[in-house]
Amino acid sequence: TTNRTFTMIKPDAVANGHIGAILDHIVKAGFTIKAMKLTALTEKTAGEFYAVHKERPFYKDLVGFMSSGPIVAAILEKDNAVEDFRKVIGATDPKKADAGTIRQLFADSIEANAVHGSDSDENAQIEGNFFFSAFERV
Ligand code: CMP
Repeated sequence: TTNRTFTMIKPDAVANGHIGAILDHIVKAGFTIKAMKLTALTEKTAGEFYAVHKERPFYKDLVGFMSSGPIVAAILEKDNAVEDFRKVIGATDPKKADAGTIRQLFADSIEANAVHGSDSDENAQIEGNFFFSAFERV
């Protein structure tokens, strides 16, 4: 079992100037940043990243949105990282996110929802490896 999770600050939050505030929130919640970069997904790489959602009605829009501008990708460490980070970010739909969660504070909509958080230890590892080589993490 791992104590790491993977996150992206999505194009809406980057465009709205929230990188610093979101990282501050993450660090104050007890997570340590183990890898991080500003980058951008293409339609091809966004499609690969979200391949698990390929059959969903929102897949095409999601791929378009996620390739619409820069993102910040990061690997985070904390005890119980996956579960605790999902509490910190709040529900997928910001209208349903608890007060004080990142999505409640910074997200625009269910699609432009400010941040991604891995949903399992297995996916945290797969998603971290998608963005970072061994030389890009500590
Ligand atoms: P994320 O946690 O990155 O994982 C899948 C993403 O798909 C999710 O955040 C949302 O951005 C998006 N998503 C999930 N459900 C919907 C939906 N019903 N409509 C549009 N986008 C969605």
